[in-house]
Amino acid sequence: MINIKSEREIALMRKSAKLAASTLKYIGAFVKPGVSTEELNNIAHDYIIDHGAIPSPLNYHGFPKSICTSINEVICHGIPSKKDILKNGDIVNLDVTTYLEGFHGDTNATFFVGEVSTDVKDLVERTHECMMAGIAEVRAGARIGSIGAAIVEIATKYRYSVVRDYCGHGIGREFHEDPQVLHYGERDTGTKMREGMTFTIEPMINIGTYRTRLDKDGWTVRTSDGKLSAQFEHTILVTKSGYEILTLSDE
Ligand code: MF3
Ligand code: CO
Ligand code: CO
Repeated sequence: MINIKSEREIALMRKSAKLAASTLKYIGAFVKPGVSTEELNNIAHDYIIDHGAIPSPLNYHGFPKSICTSINEVICHGIPSKKDILKNGDIVNLDVTTYLEGFHGDTNATFFVGEVSTDVKDLVERTHECMMAGIAEVRAGARIGSIGAAIVEIATKYRYSVVRDYCGHGIGREFHEDPQVLHYGERDTGTKMREGMTFTIEPMINIGTYRTRLDKDGWTVRTSDGKLSAQFEHTILVTKSGYEILTLSDE
């Protein structure tokens, strides 16, 4: 069942999403060689608590930390650790979800650590382009399959692959709600978007295979060939004429 949000609910979604966005921006400034993902986790945790919210990932199905930190070939759901120290040339995805006044906001971005090679920079910039192409398909009356189709179109142009095992999701009073938002698909197929729906678009784009491998920790998802993966995520509201990106910060 897909929840359609009322004006009041949308106002609260905006608030939580904005906090997720400002948290992401805040912790992004701490990304540099020598910093551990545990430190980034702690900075995010304190920032979220200080703003009257709760980090949604903490204890979510047993997840042990407050954000996800995914380095290089880690696709998503990396667990922050003292042992994971960022080094020059790495990329790291920071995924922040906040729970504020009853609603979740979910956003992530991939950051450069120091100086990265051209191939790496290209992957990250084009992954952002894939997300924006998916977002551009959103409007009331359009179908959800068009989002995935647009993402695959851009990824394929650059000879990248699109991860299929993890997808975007409805979001609101629950962290993960219906519908599933696949990052691949056929244009004009699938669920019809309606004004007031809120969901994430969060493509994971790989240089090599789209195939994934789960670590023994039960969370960390890696590319099965060990090649790089990047991701960006926004929480989106469907409007009559198009969309509103809810996870944008004011600053
Ligand atoms: N924030 C992730 C998403 O975009 C989900 C993380 S679940 C966690 O859907 F448990 F790993 F935190
Ligand atoms: Co999400
Ligand atoms: Co997320």
